[in-house]
Amino acid sequence: VNSREAWWLPRAGSLARLERRADRIPDPGPGEARVRVRAVGLNFADIFAAHGLYSATPSGAFIPGLECAGVVEALGPGDGGAFRTGDPVMVLTRFGACASVLNIPIKYLHPLAPGTDYIAGAAFPVQALTAWYGLVELGALAAGETVLLHSAAGGVGLMSLAILETVGAQAVAVVGGEDKRAFLVRSYGLQEASIIVRTRRGFARALDGALAALDRRGFDIVFDATAGEYLKPGLERLAPEGRYVLFGAASFMTHGARPDYLTLAWRYLRRPRIDPLSMIDRNRGLLAFNLIWLFQEAVRLPAAYAAAQRLVRRPPHVHAVLPFEQAPEAFALLQSGRTIGKVVLELRS
Ligand SMILES: NC(=O)c1ccc[n+]([C@@H]2O[C@H](COP(=O)([O-])OP(=O)(O)OC[C@H]3O[C@@H](n4cnc5c(N)ncnc54)[C@H](OP(=O)(O)O)[C@@H]3O)[C@@H](O)[C@H]2O)c1
Repeated sequence: VNSREAWWLPRAGSLARLERRADRIPDPGPGEARVRVRAVGLNFADIFAAHGLYSATPSGAFIPGLECAGVVEALGPGDGGAFRTGDPVMVLTRFGACASVLNIPIKYLHPLAPGTDYIAGAAFPVQALTAWYGLVELGALAAGETVLLHSAAGGVGLMSLAILETVGAQAVAVVGGEDKRAFLVRSYGLQEASIIVRTRRGFARALDGALAALDRRGFDIVFDATAGEYLKPGLERLAPEGRYVLFGAASFMTHGARPDYLTLAWRYLRRPRIDPLSMIDRNRGLLAFNLIWLFQEAVRLPAAYAAAQRLVRRPPHVHAVLPFEQAPEAFALLQSGRTIGKVVLELRS
């Protein structure tokens, strides 16, 4: 039995319920590894889960965290596969990563590439696999295509930009603030005309302006995890054979520790409704996914990692590294919508 520290939510509904507890876990069972966690990657889905708005959230008490990086400390009985004690690894979890130690089936481990530190390792799995799965696997991204990328300076957004760079596709990037625009120009070499700072009014006009500046008649892919009122203007501007890939609803996020149910209900009632019949004549498609699917289809993970690692040629951009003890502050930071790239919790070795 191994003692550890973990951040628990006794039940979903409010981030204010986060509490750090000491507990114990058993030795790893057959097919499992015990991982000493060095860094935890935070995801927007953690906040939806804490608010009780994410269907994949465990019922009852749970530990947030969908990914981490650390060291294999022990292997359970049986075949440890390619892993040995002492190996540095990246880990995908279906929650449970906000802990100093965890047991996890070895199928959810992936070797940390030589020269990659734990912070970068914790910043990679969910957001890189999401960008790869949505853009390449589902979206069939090809060289020369034009992609409307929502939240382009976020965790998934920057991974997506890295993939577009490698493939040779161009982005029209949508962001929530001027600081993010400046970052994308400075660090990713995007043209001013290809960046839209999102405003309620004038979004459709801004899309038309960006397309005109690129001399394109429409977007080949719209990659959107914000949904809400920004969905239809993008959908209407898909080129023939265009794919709208929807994978989240960040615009539904409210700002307190607990959800603002009145605002949520209003946004839900006003959510976009799409007539699939209208899509036939225009030769365009709508795809949607949740990465939990790949977690269930774990046999596909090694190939998915290999593809994502081949396409994402930049190290993850990390907005902030906070000590493990400051998880509530780290979640609040990510929830603010102001972060550029990844927020990571670090554990002392
Ligand atoms: N389906 C899946 O399997 C899957 C997997 C991973 C992530 N996701 C989704 O992909 C999105 C990005 O995830 P991430 O972890 O990389 O997060 P992130 O993009 O680093 O952060 C979320 C971003 O959402 C934008 N946003 C839009 N409306 C917002 C609001 N009302 N409140 C706060 N932020 C708002 C903000 O950027 P801007 O204001 O600049 O747009 C914010 O930075 C999230 O919606 C997440 O749920 C889905």
